[in-house]
Order: sequence, then structure tokens, then C-alpha cells
Amino acid sequence: MKLFIYHTPELTPTDEVPECAIAVDVLRATTTMATVLAAGGEAVQVFSDLDQLLALSEKWPGEKRLRAGERGGSKVPGFDLGNSPLDCTPELVQGRRLFISTTNGTRALQKIQNAKIVLAAAFVNRAAVVQHLLEKQPETVWIVGSGWEGSFSLEDTACAGAIAHSVVQQSKLSQDELAGNDEVVSAIALYSQWQDNLLGLLHLASHGKRLLRLNCDQDLKYCSQTDILDVLPIQQEPGVLIGKK
Ligand code: MLT
Repeated sequence: MKLFIYHTPELTPTDEVPECAIAVDVLRATTTMATVLAAGGEAVQVFSDLDQLLALSEKWPGEKRLRAGERGGSKVPGFDLGNSPLDCTPELVQGRRLFISTTNGTRALQKIQNAKIVLAAAFVNRAAVVQHLLEKQPETVWIVGSGWEGSFSLEDTACAGAIAHSVVQQSKLSQDELAGNDEVVSAIALYSQWQDNLLGLLHLASHGKRLLRLNCDQDLKYCSQTDILDVLPIQQEPGVLIGKK
């Protein structure tokens, strides 16, 4: 297995497709997706365009769908939900499909949707993602941070580092054998420095600060937890993820 980390979707190569690609948006899209699927959501369907989301979800039975729209950290008016994982209770999401569009996370998933295996990861479901990698042993793996509008996000690279760190610990591979690019080494170093204070790291992150200004303190706390959800969001068809438990 060779692992490559890209800090943003824009940095991924355009002339190749890996066997496995993993989108990361710790704050908050992939945390929300893992939460919905762990709580019994039927599937998550991602859109970069809000109008497309509305048009396609309109064809779905009303009682079987939830529409989530987020821009700039805030809920889009007229949508059922914004992008807070804390709103996604089992009572609300069970048996329903989440149609979701967010500023960066859903774009990252769309960018990697041609890979053979497509996963969504966050700190909350890191162990389930690592377990899948160890079982399937894909030849090439990309972990793609969602970033913020094309620029680096501290929390996504730290989570990519958490995945790589755990693969090194649990496999017979050394860091040198696993790393396909320099970003892997730096992401593992970032995670290693902050692993005992991930909430502190989220408070330092620029999007963390944006969410704090929007009074989302509890979201940061929730998103900073590691390995609390035993769920693997895996793409079933382009743009549609289901939860493997
Ligand atoms: C995104 O996709 O940029 C985020 O998930 C934004 C958010 O925190 O809602």
C-alpha cells in the first residue's frame, strides 16, 4: 500500500485515479456524514450545487429525505438542516436519505468519485477507515483534505495524519514504506504533536475560529473525538455513500 495525502482537492493529480480515495472534512461535512450513517440514515448523497440538490431530492418521498445546505458555516435558508452533526439524531435521520451540499466537503467527495473505493473519514470514524485499509490493502490510497475554498485546513491534514499514523502502527509497513509523498510524513508529525489535544488544534484552525464565531463550540468538541463511531461511509454509486458497520 502506498499512501498519498493532498491538502486540498485542487492539489490532486488530474491524470490518474487511485484504487482508494478518502475525503476528509473534519469541520464538519465528513463528521456529519459518518454521524448520519451511524445513526441509521439510509444514505448520504452529495452535491456541489444547491439547485441540483433541490431538483433531485424533490423526486424523493418527502418523509424519506432530509436536505442539508451549508455555506460559510451557516445553514442555507429553506433547508431542513445546516451542517451540524449534533442535529443528526437517530430519531431524525433513521431510514432517511441526507441530500447535502457544503462549502468544501461535498466538492472534495465529487473530485474523487471515480476511484474504485471512495470513503469519507473524520476523527470520529478513523478506526473504521483504517480497518478497511488494512483488510483490503489497496495498492494506492489518496487522502484528500477538503481545505477551505482551495487553501490548507489544519484539521483535515491532522486527520489524514491520524489515519496514516494508525496504519503504520497496525501494519508491518514503516512510515518510509507507506509514504507516497512528503505530505504523509508532515501530516503524521502534525497529528503526533496534537493527538492528546485535538480540541485545542480545532480551536487554532481558521475554520474552527469561524465556527466559534457562529457559536458552534459544541460541534468542535464533538468533531475532536477520535474513533467513537464504528461506521464506514463508502460510495455505492457516484455521489451516494452508504454506511458499512
Ligand atoms: C465545508 O464543507 O466546508 C464544511 O463542512 C463547512 C462547515 O463547517 O459546515
